[in-house]
Amino acid sequence: MPELNVILRDGTQQVIKASADLSVMEAIRDTGFDELLALCGGCCSCATCHVYVEPAFADALPPVSADENDLLDGSPHRNEHSRLSCQVMMTEALSGMSITIAPED
Ligand code: FES
Repeated sequence: MPELNVILRDGTQQVIKASADLSVMEAIRDTGFDELLALCGGCCSCATCHVYVEPAFADALPPVSADENDLLDGSPHRNEHSRLSCQVMMTEALSGMSITIAPED
């Protein structure tokens, strides 16, 4: 099963299993991390699942949709590595990727 290295806001890290039928958000939420609020449940309408993805995996990620881009634009913490984790489905190609939970807006 693919794995993710999750980096919390205090810098602590934990490797989690991330089934390929889940989004990155679901994998993190289902592990029990409460920093990733994911208030809309993955409908791409809240931006509370904002994360930074490891740059080395950029080519393996799906493109940013117009809706995702608009939501990320509303965050003062957006940077070039920002994604909404509900919009990134896990794949074997993403196994080993580090995901940093973005600061709360
Ligand atoms: S969970 Fe709401 S936008 Fe991702």
